[in-house]
Amino acid sequence: MSTQSIPLAGVVGDPIAHSKSPRLHGHWLKRYGIEGQYVPLHVPESDLETVIRALPKMGFVGINVTIPHKISVMSLADQVSDRAILIGAANTLTFRPDGKILADNTDGHGFMANLKDHAPEWDPKSGPVAVFGAGGAARAVIVALADAGVPEIFLSNRTRPKAEALKAEFGTRVQVVDWVQAGNMLEDAKAVVNTTSLGMVGKLELRVPLDGMKEGTIVNDLVYTPLETPLLKYAKDNGCLAVDGLGMLLHQAAPGFERWFGQTPTVDDELRRVVLG
Ligand code: ATR
Repeated sequence: MSTQSIPLAGVVGDPIAHSKSPRLHGHWLKRYGIEGQYVPLHVPESDLETVIRALPKMGFVGINVTIPHKISVMSLADQVSDRAILIGAANTLTFRPDGKILADNTDGHGFMANLKDHAPEWDPKSGPVAVFGAGGAARAVIVALADAGVPEIFLSNRTRPKAEALKAEFGTRVQVVDWVQAGNMLEDAKAVVNTTSLGMVGKLELRVPLDGMKEGTIVNDLVYTPLETPLLKYAKDNGCLAVDGLGMLLHQAAPGFERWFGQTPTVDDELRRVVLG
């Protein structure tokens, strides 16, 4: 019998029951024949530090971090990646054998990899991108877009000062557009991204007039419940390339899996089916 312990990983959040990560990582573990486990961990904020400090001692090699802990975990890490610092949040922790905790944010990677999969022709440098929303998800998207060389990012948010704050932080490539005029920013956009929760099951629809969008525009919704949001349906019906948000979830998981279990996982249709259940 091997004396080596079985590597454990998981996702820490509150609530956590809805998380698709256990199914996703569980599928990869099975596919690659890795003797490991990935579990959902329901941890309230008050217990976060105690739990995270204990996990490596229990055989955990890393965790994903979700709402509401993405910001607070950064202060528990010994090393925080540049990307996570820029975004201001971490979603992936790695517990090193020497006891150090590394924090990273792979959301931007997930976002770009999903677009590369479903809109391979898109050249980020070819023109402006319009972004709805200025919350946590928007930060990861803006950092990724700027990193990829997008020349101009139009940003519109219901609460305008939050968009202004992102412009102040991320620079002159970000142009703030008032929420009531958000439809105007679509005309010149090569790609459009919804980072708000509008369109999600149980939430309101995105009410921005979409008729300015040109045929061929790439339209990506980070919302993936439902898979086809009203925004994506409109895009599809009007000659645009609709990219759903599930791929971002799948791709953001890959770097953690690779670091913890030593295997680069593949994101494919089979994984999509498994995660959708
Ligand atoms: P996340 O981390 O998923 O980005 P968040 O930080 O709570 O979540 O951000 C939610 C985003 O959805 C914000 O841009 C929010 O706009 P406000 O900054 O004005 O709150 C946007 N959003 C949520 N509900 C909205 C609504 N009913 N109308 C317009 N925007 C909405």
